[in-house]
Amino acid sequence: MSDSVLNQFTQQTVEEKKNDGRKLKVGIIGTGWIAEAHIESLKQMEDVEIVAGADLIPGKAEKFFKRYGVEGVRCYPSHKEMLDNEELDAVSVCTYNRQHAEPTIYALDKGVNVLLEKPMCVTTEEAVEIIRAEKRSGKILSVGFQPRMDNNMKMIKKIVESGELGNIYYIQTGGGRRRGIPNSTFIEDKTAGIGALGDIGCYSLDMVLNAIGYPKPLTASGYISSYFGPNPLYNNPADAARFNVEDFAAAFVRLEGGIILDFRISWAMHLNTPGDTVILGTKGALRIPSTECWNGSVGGPMTLYHDVAGKQTETVIPLCGPVKNGLFYQKVRSFLDAVRNGGTAPVPTSQIFYNQIIIDSIVKSARLGKEIDIEIPEI
Ligand SMILES: NC(=O)c1ccc[n+]([C@@H]2O[C@H](COP(=O)([O-])OP(=O)(O)OC[C@H]3O[C@@H](n4cnc5c(N)ncnc54)[C@H](O)[C@@H]3O)[C@@H](O)[C@H]2O)c1
Repeated sequence: MSDSVLNQFTQQTVEEKKNDGRKLKVGIIGTGWIAEAHIESLKQMEDVEIVAGADLIPGKAEKFFKRYGVEGVRCYPSHKEMLDNEELDAVSVCTYNRQHAEPTIYALDKGVNVLLEKPMCVTTEEAVEIIRAEKRSGKILSVGFQPRMDNNMKMIKKIVESGELGNIYYIQTGGGRRRGIPNSTFIEDKTAGIGALGDIGCYSLDMVLNAIGYPKPLTASGYISSYFGPNPLYNNPADAARFNVEDFAAAFVRLEGGIILDFRISWAMHLNTPGDTVILGTKGALRIPSTECWNGSVGGPMTLYHDVAGKQTETVIPLCGPVKNGLFYQKVRSFLDAVRNGGTAPVPTSQIFYNQIIIDSIVKSARLGKEIDIEIPEI
């Protein structure tokens, strides 16, 4: 039998399994802001049944499902009651950062696949415990980095992998806003644990680290500050009074393979942008116009700087179009496809572990006021 015939046969088998008729039973833990994007995506999927939800705030989950017109959802006062009482295929963990590890580990230990919102968690120690739970469960755990689904973001990785840049030795990345401090649970240590680093910094890091294959981080010299969030001149007084995370961070991180990562992220500053992302390689360089990353948009067409037959040349990479149904839909769908088909996590913890370790190391180094060696814990 020829290869083409065999390939067709393989595809048909996957398709058949995908449409086995059974609806996936899904729950949502944490029915706040980002849970809205999850439910909007889940509602569009014919092979999904939203059966349970949980929130610590009494009545919040009930109101949430009512608002979205999803009937018959059983609501619980926390992730524990929900997972103790339900037989689920998958959950979306949409809690604030300080409540990422506990519900995720609990769900995995109950044999439930997890789509965990970003950032993975707050500390390296939590990340280790999450990955241990994932390994002992044998279930799928994907981290909610929707920019991964974007074609422009994929293009960055393709350009690096094509070899056009040669060996990468320096990356400048980050992003931020002149004024863009969020509120709600993002600005307090007891709920968020980390500020701009966990909200938007993790995306900038993922954009470039994913492109270069997530090399091991070796050292970090980090800086964090909060000159804007607690200041009623720049934040509303009630939020300023409770603000106690960082609104700016910068770092110089050494990565395996002799690569330097020069990073900065900001919720507020006296500047419109901390600059473009640049990836310097031995054969070429890529400029990615300043982007906040979270919605997958790059700030404009990227430019590849390279020598063509000895002539210094700039090649503009045309922007790619949007993905079908949007990034959030694809983030949830790719996770559920892996659950249904027995595939691997679309955004695996094996990669995001280093993202989390870098964030944690920036905070630790900043608190110590000096560069630190990064030790990667055994899982
Ligand atoms: N992917 C994205 O683009 C994106 C955007 C915004 C937020 N987020 C991430 O989503 C997470 C949540 O953000 P948000 O803005 O929705 O926060 P939020 O405060 O609006 O909602 C979180 C909810 O979780 C509930 N909760 C906390 N612990 C719980 C537990 N153990 N069991 C049940 N409920 C629990 C809280 O009561 C709250 O209602 C954050 O980690 C954030 O980084 C991702």
